[in-house]
Formats: sequence, structure tokens, C-alpha cells
Amino acid sequence: MNIKEGVVSLETLDELSDLLLNHTTDGIVLLEGELGAGKTTFIKHLLQKIGVVESITSPTFSLVNHYHSPLRDIIHADLYRVKKSQEIEGLGLDYTGKNLLLIEWGEQFESLLTPIKAKISLSYLASDTINQRSYRIELL
Ligand SMILES: Nc1ncnc2c1ncn2[C@@H]1O[C@H](COP(=O)(O)OP(=O)(O)O)[C@@H](O)[C@H]1O
Ligand SMILES: [Mg+2]
Repeated sequence: MNIKEGVVSLETLDELSDLLLNHTTDGIVLLEGELGAGKTTFIKHLLQKIGVVESITSPTFSLVNHYHSPLRDIIHADLYRVKKSQEIEGLGLDYTGKNLLLIEWGEQFESLLTPIKAKISLSYLASDTINQRSYRIELL
């Protein structure tokens, strides 16, 4: 296991994207952090970087969004509103052997999600710095 920590702004999201993409471009990536921490924003950046041209929206209400890129089929899920583990089975969060699954609020269902290749945690800084977040990326 390899852990990296640092600070990320909207301007440096590329560096965090590279940390992830240099480790894996497939499997499951869990995104943790409170509302507004920047999970969806990071995923949007990452998907644009790997060539998704479709418009990328938050799956807050749809729960699961599907995208295509030259590199991968991609699933972006937000499990904030999912409370029971039985609901997970119907969402199609399956690793095909080559797709990339980016899952917000997935930590509550970790045992059902496999293979987890990385966990990214975003949080507000203690100070009043609103234009930056701290990150912790765990490469598994
Ligand atoms: N790394 C960052 N640095 C500064 N502001 C950010 C960062 N990531 C996101 N934001 C801002 O925070 C707000 C909420 O981000 P969002 O990605 O929707 O959070 P989440 O998906 O974690 O609820 C957005 O307005 C966005 O511009
Ligand atoms: Mg979000």
C-alpha cells in the first residue's frame, strides 16, 4: 500500500489525476469526503483528461452515470442516498476486467465493491482557505 497526501486546488487537479492514473486506469476507485469536498469536481476533471467528451454531470439523483472514452468504459456512481446493501446489487457496479468505476460515498459498502484499486479522500482545510482541499490518496 502506498499513501500520498497533499493539497489540491481547481488549478492542480491534474496532479492528483496523474497520481491515480499512474497507478491504475481500471477497477474501482472510492472517493471519500463530506459534501462539497470536491469529489465530483475531481472526477469530472479526470474523465475529461482521459477523453470523455460527453457532458459529465453529478449522479446525485441518477445514482449511476455511464461514459465512454477511448481508454475505458466508465461508471460514475454516488451512493449517498443508498442506505441498504441490497440496493447495490441492482446498480450494475460490476468490474468487467477493464472498466473504471469511480464511486462517491462507497466506503459504507466496501465489502461489496471489488477490486478496490484506490481510495481518495478530500477534505476542507482547517483554515479559511476555500480555494484548496487537502487530499489523501491510498493506492492499493
Ligand atoms: N480541489 C478544489 N479546490 C477548491 N475548490 C474545489 C475543489 N474541488 C471542488 N471545489 C469546489 O467545491 C464545490 C463542491 O465540489 P463538488 O465536487 O460538487 O463536491 P462533492 O462532490 O464532494 O460534494 C464546487 O463548487 C467546486 O468548485
Ligand atoms: Mg458529488
